[in-house]
Amino acid sequence: MRAVAPLRQSRIAGLGEHRPAGRLTNDDLAARGLDTTDEWIRTRTGIVSRHVAASDETVVSMGIDAAAKALAASGLTGADVDLVILATCTMRNAIPGGAARVATGIGARGAGAFDVNAACGGFCYALSVASDAVRTGNAQRVVVVGSEKLTDWLDWSDRGTCILFGDGAAAAVVTTADEPGIGPVAWGSDGEAYASVGVPEGDWAVRMDGPAVFRWATTQLAPVARRACELAGVDLADIRAFVPHQANARIIDALVRALRLPEHVAVARDIATTGNTSAASVPLALSALAGSGAVEPGGLTLLLAFGAGLTYAGQVVRIP
Ligand code: COA
Repeated sequence: MRAVAPLRQSRIAGLGEHRPAGRLTNDDLAARGLDTTDEWIRTRTGIVSRHVAASDETVVSMGIDAAAKALAASGLTGADVDLVILATCTMRNAIPGGAARVATGIGARGAGAFDVNAACGGFCYALSVASDAVRTGNAQRVVVVGSEKLTDWLDWSDRGTCILFGDGAAAAVVTTADEPGIGPVAWGSDGEAYASVGVPEGDWAVRMDGPAVFRWATTQLAPVARRACELAGVDLADIRAFVPHQANARIIDALVRALRLPEHVAVARDIATTGNTSAASVPLALSALAGSGAVEPGGLTLLLAFGAGLTYAGQVVRIP
């Protein structure tokens, strides 16, 4: 048997996103009869509005659009792609997964394709697997997609949960590189706390112990972010941008404080107009930050995703 090829380096070559045109404001939620106010949601979560997919916008169709844009941004086409990984937890049916249809939709005929379900942690897991595939030579160019239609899984009368989530997709193209562009992953899980967020057996909507998840996120995740930096050999002081999962602006603020991030670090705050889009959250926020020009191409960026499972993962990447 032939040995694994010498390790190569990997990088994110381009990003793409799909934000549904449909938009739901906090006032819209209150106007629908939900016992809440714009003021409560803004101050407790930082969310002002979220995107809502139309009936013909699916996890797969949004993923295809985001992936096609990421390929265009990378100067590649579907024919160049040999692996597609779809991070999602909101497919309507469990079998089959959606990655093969995304591959077909972008013209990546015959590409390897599989789904990753690590809920809101999913994109950072999938990015790590993509990077390893490129580094070992198992793939040359990988499309990693985070796509979610959470609004299919929300009870619109549950004010503690439905206010938080939205729909969307974003994608990254991972290719070989001369210099390291995707650092090692710091990942982990806590299955004992699985019941704190998710769709309970026999139920149809996401249920959540919000305060428990809040406590966990604000107390357990800063060490994961520090570990991702250590693994990448990067000092926190050298980080140019921080892209945490967009679950709650107060969780983001708590992480920034716990990590003592200097003022010059650009912090992704896509949550205000996007809400929590689970596996699409980190790539959507990364895409928005990269597009805003707040970080130079090549700038070291710390990603940190976490969510149901519970699962978490983070790594340092260079902005394309
Ligand atoms: N509008 C108005 N009042 C609301 C409300 C809403 N949308 N949702 C809850 N409340 C009420 C509660 O009923 C409660 O009232 P009470 O004191 O009379 O019982 C009060 O506000 C406080 O509720 P609590 O749940 O303690 O508020 P909170 O400050 O913890 O905020 C979350 C709730 C859900 C916003 C917050 O816990 C959170 O963001 N948790 C993390 C969730 C998360 O990240 N989940 C996804 C992980 S991937």
